[in-house]
Amino acid sequence: MKVLVIGGGAREHALCRSLSLDPDVTALYCAPGNAGIAEVAELRPVDAMDGAAVARLATELGAGLVVVGPEAPLVAGVADAVREAGIPVFGPSREAAELEGSKAFAKDVMAAAEVPTARSYVCTTAEEIDSALAAFGAPYVVKDDGLAAGKGVVVTEDVEEARAHALACERVVIEEFLDGPEVSLFAITDGTTVLPLQPAQDFKRALDGDQGPNTGGMGAYSPLPWADPKLVDEVMESVLQPTVDELRRRGTPFSGLLYAGLAITSRGVRVIEFNARFGDPETQVVLARLRTPLAGVLLGAANGTLDALPPLAWRDDAAVTVVIASHNYPGTPRTGDPIEGLAEIAAEDAPYAYVLHAGTKQDGDAVLSAGGRVLSVTATGADLAEARTRAYRAVERIRLDGSQHRTDIAAKAAGV
Ligand code: AMP
Ligand code: GLY
Repeated sequence: MKVLVIGGGAREHALCRSLSLDPDVTALYCAPGNAGIAEVAELRPVDAMDGAAVARLATELGAGLVVVGPEAPLVAGVADAVREAGIPVFGPSREAAELEGSKAFAKDVMAAAEVPTARSYVCTTAEEIDSALAAFGAPYVVKDDGLAAGKGVVVTEDVEEARAHALACERVVIEEFLDGPEVSLFAITDGTTVLPLQPAQDFKRALDGDQGPNTGGMGAYSPLPWADPKLVDEVMESVLQPTVDELRRRGTPFSGLLYAGLAITSRGVRVIEFNARFGDPETQVVLARLRTPLAGVLLGAANGTLDALPPLAWRDDAAVTVVIASHNYPGTPRTGDPIEGLAEIAAEDAPYAYVLHAGTKQDGDAVLSAGGRVLSVTATGADLAEARTRAYRAVERIRLDGSQHRTDIAAKAAGV
């Protein structure tokens, strides 16, 4: 099977790495890709937001499967354009991707499907904002209704900061604060059958000890030794299956990757958010542990035949990923700096640790930083402590002027 992956971040690098190891994949393309993905897939230039261009490229390449990685093209209907060209595509339709594209839509689906989530108000005026903030009290949770690349949410004790963020949004969701650890659980679905993956935990704040601003994610690990072994079954029953069933009932079935961001509160599991695609950096650790070859599973979701697949198989290994970000991320990052140490990791740490590129670009023989999150170092081990040691050993080899990373990824879960 020829596979075309759309996107060019660490998530797409993780997807391409797994697909490149799948014996059923005879040719692998990524558009537009990045400097690291070029090592495992053939890169093609494309505007990932242009559905017609993506469909044309897939047809030219004779792709038997297109995987749309990021949310923006999904919300723009790129998967629909590919599907209309008669090519199987992994990724939801524009309408179903609204589950991520609009927080208000997601709340409406959850209410209809009786999925547990934070109580919330959707506000468009200053009066509505003030009464919602007063109704919930501190800490305030204020979410831009639309896509904001992981930066649309403000959680604060400061009512003025909450109010200012809310007023800056066209439409805003104000909701109850959820206490308790967060878990990301991904499921692959064809719109009817739902296959949960293994849970992971993401580190959203920029600095050690969960301090500093929210980011797209600074690291992740899986499995979660502290979680209830029944967690996946419980989330399947209370969240994933009812959500998929509700979208099918509405005539907008969701096929692709359903990402449930969950809070494990004292009153039970609550949905913080849904995403319509693989999460970054959780994908790096979840795919590191997946034993089942990936292409057949993604194709089953695209073709509506997931019910015919055997259960997913997982490695016993643990996985940890640490993100290296540019100077000033999540503010406007500094880019164009050379990245050194990549060859040393390939020579000394592989196959247990490896680098997945996010914002990088090739410049002659050099690899330069080209975005906020530059790369992630992923490692596996017999347990989290070993995976963590291997990941940080490799992180220490990376030299990138002004770069930052967290030093406490998976530390608590590994018991160190
Ligand atoms: P989101 O973009 O919806 O993932 O939100 C980003 C982060 O904000 C989440 O990972 C949580 O850490 C935090 N957050 C969002 N909603 C809530 C909530 N209702 N209660 C507490 N924290 C939240
Ligand atoms: N890890 C958070 C996200 O992908 O949205």
